[in-house]
Amino acid sequence: VPTEPMAPPQPGPAPEDWSIPSLPEDVAQEAFKSFASSQCCYSEAPAKNGVITNMEVFNTYRYRLETFTESRSTEWATKPHEGELADFYTQTAPRPWEVQATPPSHFTNHTEEIRVPYTSSIQDCNSCHATGKIQCQQCNGSGFDKECWVCNGSGTKNDESCSHCDGNGKERCTECDQGMKECETCKGKLRVLTYIKLKVTFEDIMKTNIHALETLMTKDTFSSHFQVYPLLGFPNTAIVEASERLVREQQSKYTQNSRILQQRQTVELIPVTKVNYKWKGDSHVYYVYGNENKVSADNYPATCCCVIQ
Ligand SMILES: *[C@@H]1O[C@H](CO)[C@@H](O)[C@H](O)[C@H]1NC(C)=O
Ligand SMILES: *[C@@H]1O[C@H](CO)[C@@H](O)[C@H](O)[C@H]1NC(C)=O
Ligand SMILES: *[C@@H]1O[C@H](CO)[C@@H](O)[C@H](O)[C@H]1NC(C)=O
Ligand SMILES: [Zn+2]
Ligand SMILES: [Zn+2]
Ligand SMILES: [Zn+2]
Repeated sequence: VPTEPMAPPQPGPAPEDWSIPSLPEDVAQEAFKSFASSQCCYSEAPAKNGVITNMEVFNTYRYRLETFTESRSTEWATKPHEGELADFYTQTAPRPWEVQATPPSHFTNHTEEIRVPYTSSIQDCNSCHATGKIQCQQCNGSGFDKECWVCNGSGTKNDESCSHCDGNGKERCTECDQGMKECETCKGKLRVLTYIKLKVTFEDIMKTNIHALETLMTKDTFSSHFQVYPLLGFPNTAIVEASERLVREQQSKYTQNSRILQQRQTVELIPVTKVNYKWKGDSHVYYVYGNENKVSADNYPATCCCVIQ
């Protein structure tokens, strides 16, 4: 994560400087050659023998705004009663934002569920009428489901009672115990705890905008932490405008059930060099971009048309 403050912008280049590429020709050609050799059916000839005629430098700013928010919502909830105390209104229950919740390490998504103090009461489980058990759906409570495969459901084999199913003709149900299952609502505890559940959601929301620009800057990253102000004084209006708009948009969005804990914005500079070259008398183009000199060449002149099947 880049953390240095922004260096003062360098003066832009004079127009005649545009013919002087910031990327040396041999570096561009090397990048192009390794690109060609990494493609499965590209001939290396154009990359090796092509002659660079002109290089133009563009820069792309990538602006990114991240907003780390916390939202809270409440709902009634029920869980099996496992010995909790019923504290319903023994004191006034705290309101959602009065409950203590610890944010995770910043800028990571996380959800926490908290039982709000002084909202819990204990009730008999309705689903199982406080028996802890419900009828098995698989066998309709009979305890047996499919036909016995040994006697084909007849209960007899070779004129004797079938030993596999004890003469019942049916297989024992594997889902239950004699037609009954543990109640899922109370997990067999017979009683449930009803309470107000507070859901706290921490979210990292990111917005990205990309703008191309033809100015050179030497410093390649700028970032600011905490609640941000729009990027005042940044030497690119499109970026400043995007920043102002997005910051305003996000700040107005998080007011009611949520709040902004932290924001950060970064501006990255991605250098792009357009390389014009000649090969066998024709002009072609490729692009070298990024700090790792990646290459993009959509109309590479010597690809074989082999079809792999
Ligand atoms: C259980 O009952 C339903 C509806 O009454 C029926 O469709 C289903 O076949 C029964 N299942 C078994 C295993 O008896
Ligand atoms: C059960 O059915 C199968 C095929 O339908 C048959 O081959 C087998 O002999 C039957 N078994 C009995 C015990 O009836
Ligand atoms: C965090 O949540 C946001 C919004 O729901 C989502 O856009 C983002 O991709 C999530 N981040 C991670 C790392 O899962
Ligand atoms: Zn069953
Ligand atoms: Zn049987
Ligand atoms: Zn129950």
